[in-house]
Amino acid sequence: MIGRKIVVLGTGGTVAGRAASATDNLAYTAGQVAVADLLHGVARPAGFELLAEQVTQVDSKDMDFEVWRILALRCAHWLAQPEVAGVVVTHGTDTMEETAFFLHCVLAPARPVVLTGAMRPATSVTADGPRNVADALAVAATAGAQGVVVVFAGQVHAAAEVAKTHAHRLEAFGSGESAPLGLVDEGGVRMAHPWPAGDSAQARSLLQRVAAAPSWPRVEIVMNYAGAGPGIVEALVKQGVRGIVAAGTGNGTLHRSLEEALVQAQSAGVAVVRSTRCAMGSVVPHARDRLPHSPLPPVKARVALMLELLA
Ligand code: SIN
Repeated sequence: MIGRKIVVLGTGGTVAGRAASATDNLAYTAGQVAVADLLHGVARPAGFELLAEQVTQVDSKDMDFEVWRILALRCAHWLAQPEVAGVVVTHGTDTMEETAFFLHCVLAPARPVVLTGAMRPATSVTADGPRNVADALAVAATAGAQGVVVVFAGQVHAAAEVAKTHAHRLEAFGSGESAPLGLVDEGGVRMAHPWPAGDSAQARSLLQRVAAAPSWPRVEIVMNYAGAGPGIVEALVKQGVRGIVAAGTGNGTLHRSLEEALVQAQSAGVAVVRSTRCAMGSVVPHARDRLPHSPLPPVKARVALMLELLA
């Protein structure tokens, strides 16, 4: 039987942002309004009790490992309660895809964990937060829902596919070459694809490592571009970086000077993976590759490498 409680974990973001005027959608401060207040007046699924918990109040550009650790443990705590149908996480949009992917890796939940946010602050006369939060609650209350998803502007996206694709528009998220998993219209959830599934045994062991780790292994992203050189990689190696994700051009290609520096970094014990800076598609490996590739976009490849190095 489905639980009748939905837990809403607040982490900040524009959805909880406050501006001096109701028409100002730019000069606001993110992470100001308490998560309990974000639920006032929001349509909630019939027969469900809501429980709000403030995990933190940050602008998600400042997201860090410690917040991720606490958030993952709070999700795991609530998902272990049989009366909880699902968890909604209110979050800034800027790093939402990274948090969603991180939670996907360390939870792989059999119930839904739904991230949502807003492009306009809570004080805006045209705020999009209330609709997104209502949609997220509807998804969390859906029988059979599972996995980590992002619900935004009426669409349901899988954590593994979702990315912020627009800097300002209300339809700010997409799933790249994959279609959204489903749609939410006036509280009605229509799924076109199966809910995301993950490896729960692997997730449990990753979560234990995350819980016990005092800090995360330093993994940086280096981009390829016209004229890219070895300097940044050499500096990172000197600083003791544990891993580097190379955001290559096209099919993960790298300027020869940058590639040489990365090969040397790898020989010195740094974990190196190649991704692509292209918004769509992922690196297809071939026999002449000198460096391993990741099928993930750079920011998610970084999360995956960081978790691998935690081992
Ligand atoms: C943030 O990511 O916390 C600020 C921007 C936003 O939520 O849209």
